Amino acid sequence: VRSFTNSLAAPLSPEDMQVQSSPDASPTKWHLAHTTWFFEEFVLARFDPSHRWRDARWRFLFNSYYDAVGPRHARAARGQLSRPSLADVMAWRARVDEQMISAMPALDEAMAAIVLLGTHHEQQHQELLLTDVQQAFAANPIEPCYATGPDEPSAAEAAPLRWLDYEESLTRFGDEADGFAFDNERPAHRVLVGPFRLASRPVTNSEFASFVADGGYERAELWLADGWAAAKASEWRGPLYWGNAGEDAATVFTLHGRRVRDPSAPVSHVSFYEADAYARWFGARLPTEYEWELAAMGSSLDGNFVESGRLAPAPGAGHAPCEQLFGDVWEWTASPYAAYPKFRTLDGALGEYNGKFMNGQMVLRGGSCFSPRDHLRATYRNFFPPGARWQVAGIRLASDE
Ligand SMILES: [Fe+2]
Repeated sequence: VRSFTNSLAAPLSPEDMQVQSSPDASPTKWHLAHTTWFFEEFVLARFDPSHRWRDARWRFLFNSYYDAVGPRHARAARGQLSRPSLADVMAWRARVDEQMISAMPALDEAMAAIVLLGTHHEQQHQELLLTDVQQAFAANPIEPCYATGPDEPSAAEAAPLRWLDYEESLTRFGDEADGFAFDNERPAHRVLVGPFRLASRPVTNSEFASFVADGGYERAELWLADGWAAAKASEWRGPLYWGNAGEDAATVFTLHGRRVRDPSAPVSHVSFYEADAYARWFGARLPTEYEWELAAMGSSLDGNFVESGRLAPAPGAGHAPCEQLFGDVWEWTASPYAAYPKFRTLDGALGEYNGKFMNGQMVLRGGSCFSPRDHLRATYRNFFPPGARWQVAGIRLASDE
């Protein structure tokens, strides 16, 4: 996991890694440092009381949001940290890796669980590193490429949209397996889910273009009030990285640079508000997270993940009855991010990992083309504010009829 993070940073220059493109996004250098801080703060320094920090001042710089650990540098000002240098951060990564390798054989079960949490935490930051680089490069008028990719869209056509019928069921949801899961996926509990229909694949670029062409962004009746206000205030006219009118109209900015949009690929970089408005325009709705999980329970964990190297959503193969539940795009659900019944946070500072964010956000499921495959599960609950657009988030429809 640690070396994969380094490989994701490898195509970037030190200057690329310094940029913070918005208050929500972080510089690559900060991601590299913060994921290292996690292991020094929560494992090395706690395991060995005589542990000496590489530089104790960095605890302030690279703590993200843990109030129990102490005060921290302002999130929106992470791009201003020209020191420590990238070379110092990379040397710190190597030093902490060596110390971890030495310490791990003697760790007790509780500490080992924190190491495992640290690796899954780092995988979350691997995805954020890529979403944040895409946003930073999109803000640069010369639109740099992170990686080389195909010049033309794939010739594949999206499979026709089909509706899969699910009967009413009383089902156990959430994680109760032996492997790793975040606290927010627990405890497992039973939920009665009424009959519903789920779309066989995500909404494509060409389908979303029909919504835009039909005045979707100009029709208040399709939008939640907060979404309409956000769309007007920020002058949304299409998904975040779609080209504007003129010769860029049919393009999208990707980690491969600006490319002709693949009409058959899932639409991405839309907010919950846009997903919800699209569903209303279509005469459908978004699935609840339980409906989504019910479909995913029986699906194999196949898909277009970061390991494919495509780094962009791709058309489905049209083979499975329900496609692309995993990978390609995170799928916004209609479910607010809230605690499962009898939810308990972890003890200590790590209790701040998920629980304190359980208000004002929506759940997304399934992972994206930026997610590591072994980071994902059917029970995995991602969450973002409803107006967030810089994540690789798309749309799967559900309906009651
Ligand atoms: Fe973090």
